[in-house]
Amino acid sequence: MSPAPAAWSPANPRPKDPAMSHGFLQVQALGKAYLPSKPVFSDVSFSLDRGEFVCIIGHSGCGKTTILNVLAGLDQASSGHAFMDGREIAGPSLERGVVFQSHALMPWLTVRQNIAFAVKSRWPDWSASAINAHVEKFVALVGLSPAIDKKPSQLSGGMKQRVGIARAFSIQPKMLLLDEPFGALDALTRGTIQDELMAIVRQTQQTVFMITHDVDEAILLADRILLMSNGSETPQGYRPGGLVEVVSNPLPRERTRASLHHLDGYYELRNHIVDFLVSRAKAH
Ligand SMILES: Nc1ncnc2c1ncn2[C@@H]1O[C@H](COP(=O)(O)OP(=O)(O)OP(=O)(O)O)[C@@H](O)[C@H]1O
Ligand SMILES: [Mg+2]
Repeated sequence: MSPAPAAWSPANPRPKDPAMSHGFLQVQALGKAYLPSKPVFSDVSFSLDRGEFVCIIGHSGCGKTTILNVLAGLDQASSGHAFMDGREIAGPSLERGVVFQSHALMPWLTVRQNIAFAVKSRWPDWSASAINAHVEKFVALVGLSPAIDKKPSQLSGGMKQRVGIARAFSIQPKMLLLDEPFGALDALTRGTIQDELMAIVRQTQQTVFMITHDVDEAILLADRILLMSNGSETPQGYRPGGLVEVVSNPLPRERTRASLHHLDGYYELRNHIVDFLVSRAKAH
């Protein structure tokens, strides 16, 4: 039996997996200002290794979606740069799969057609049967084979989110960007899809950047958790939000929802993040 992991502390981060390629995504001094005098955030720098799962946590309005949109190439930062695989991110690309909080499926197409549309865009030369086989594989992966010929209006919210996840995975992106993908789901459905997502990510060695408000979700899924503060007025003037801390998850990677709270280090990690959200994330 392997020894129990040491409790989390800044001095005792989780050792890096040697198979990961370091610095696959590089974010350098990113800032965004809609009003020049009041940047939402500034000087945000972090990196993601290939195969790493990173979550970002922070209160509403701190700029999480803005960062994700910059990484997706859908928005431009006011300052700083983001590089993926050595190239600056300058626009949307099929090398990055995005799952939004609302599913963003095309309502007039079936599940099969929605995903086939993405696959066709990614590999325009593929035959119809190759596309279809690929689509069926990814629909099966999220447990939706029986619903493959239904339209979004015939599916539950959880099923639609699963289609969004299958579509994002089906283009085999170099990086997956998830903006609170389970935010609108009930706890039971959320748990099931978290388990599915974790299994697929582990199986495919996918690199993932995910926004969540759910501390346990971050602890379950993430190798590292980025803690972000909101901009605030201080006696010295306005201070933009930013990345306050990067927390390494010390729990064994093969963890499950059911076992999470029995693991050594779980409560310490959870309390650390909750304390951040309660007392430091909006500190004046
Ligand atoms: N197009 C825009 N014009 C002006 N301000 C904007 C625009 N888009 C976002 N903002 C502001 O930028 C800030 C960051 O927004 P963002 O959506 O990135 O926050 P978030 O951290 O994702 O919040 P939430 O958790 O609520 O989704 C907010 O204060 C928001 O009001
Ligand atoms: Mg958001």
